[in-house]
Amino acid sequence: MRKPLMAGNWKMNKTVEEAISVVKALKRSISDVTDVDVLICPTFTTLYAVNNELKGSNIDIGAQNLFWETKGAFTGEISPAMVKDAGCSYVLIGHSERRQYFGETDETVNKKTKAALAAGLIPVVCVGETLKEREENVTFKVIEKQLKEGLAGLTAEQAASVVIAYEPVWAIGTGKTASPDQAQEVHAFARKAYGEMYVDASQKVRILYGGSVNPTNVSELMKQPDIDGGLAGGASLQAESFTKLVKYSK
Ligand code: 13P
Repeated sequence: MRKPLMAGNWKMNKTVEEAISVVKALKRSISDVTDVDVLICPTFTTLYAVNNELKGSNIDIGAQNLFWETKGAFTGEISPAMVKDAGCSYVLIGHSERRQYFGETDETVNKKTKAALAAGLIPVVCVGETLKEREENVTFKVIEKQLKEGLAGLTAEQAASVVIAYEPVWAIGTGKTASPDQAQEVHAFARKAYGEMYVDASQKVRILYGGSVNPTNVSELMKQPDIDGGLAGGASLQAESFTKLVKYSK
């Protein structure tokens, strides 16, 4: 019922040449995939070239951030329409690295989510607890607040179209994945909390898991009933490993 989505977040990696070389290989290696939606999120400076290379393929592209204003004196920022113009259909919003290093809050996440939707982009809204929060047993409280504030005020249709990514901060880039049970527990909770906001959308919304997803652990994670896909960092940087994620054994 919910089509899986396998997404790669390239973070601050790759020149145009490097990006093109990966997507060329990827285009070939996953051209036969129809049962999984595939998304890569390169840097702003490579989006245009990557989009040209991927035209007509089964791979969507997304940006890693945007600003909520439509235009004007906001030096260094990129508007939702510009992201769309570069060929993106998705945009990551509120990644923990942006929350941690660039002052992103649930309030800015909400503004960006609404602006992305208004521009016809699908926001991939990231939530997740830190190690300290997990140890203090406040994981559910943290996720609930991030969802309720970050995704407030959407229409029923918008609420069903967004993607949520659960990325426990302690599992990002550490090689320490949440176990399939640990991840499923939070995904089920997130779906329930989302259901309190948007009853119908909660069964339709895709919830991705992110945090050291790799070719070895992807299948077990994907077997969980509330995990609808993955958001990979490191394992998405090479065509070979990302192909293994997209073609995880079912
Ligand atoms: P890693 O897969 O490198 O842990 O990164 C996860 C992530 O932050 C994806 O957005």
